[in-house]
Amino acid sequence: MIFTVAIDGPAAAGKGTISKAVAAHFGFAHLDTGLLYRAVGAKVLNGADPVAAARGLDPIDLEDESLRTPAVAQAASEIAVIVDVRSALVDFQRKFAARDGGAVLDGRDIGTVICPDANAKLFVTASAECRAERRFKELAEKGMDLTFEQVLADVKTRDARDRNRATAPLVAATDAVFIDTSDLTVAQAVAAAIDAVQARL
Ligand code: C5P
Repeated sequence: MIFTVAIDGPAAAGKGTISKAVAAHFGFAHLDTGLLYRAVGAKVLNGADPVAAARGLDPIDLEDESLRTPAVAQAASEIAVIVDVRSALVDFQRKFAARDGGAVLDGRDIGTVICPDANAKLFVTASAECRAERRFKELAEKGMDLTFEQVLADVKTRDARDRNRATAPLVAATDAVFIDTSDLTVAQAVAAAIDAVQARL
């Protein structure tokens, strides 16, 4: 069975948590597509050429825990504006989406560019302050020395870059179901997402 769930939205809106829970609930595979851009961003921080890094990306590169730092996130959003980087990553994502047994992909352009015919599309969002608060707690728990203001500025810079780029900007697909997680618990957000997907099965 091929069944694709596209989950898009800005940084730290809860896409990752929701995507993992939806995938686990339905027994689907999950791909966090942000990791593709982060893996390319990390290679570029180490001196690689962005397009060559995207073309040579190995799935094993996605398992590197150091991809989750703010510096790599910024580098990812910088290389994500390059058309040839994005096109080098399309096939991998589409193959993943079409795998037998169902797939959940989360990112910025899944429902609009990568899988415009996805069976279910969600757009997960929350206020910038709320997202920064969550990201700040996450990073503080990992022992990173950052202020809330730095994290908020970082979230806003990435949002602006993701929304305003010419190729595959962050925008909701016209047929996406919106979930604003600002005032929802994790359990409520997950339940809303599962209901929206269930309605499409
Ligand atoms: O989701 P995450 O924060 O890991 O993504 C890192 C960056 O990768 C984003 O800020 C965005 O610029 C880029 N990205 C993208 N398209 C996707 C997923 C991520 O442009 N589908």
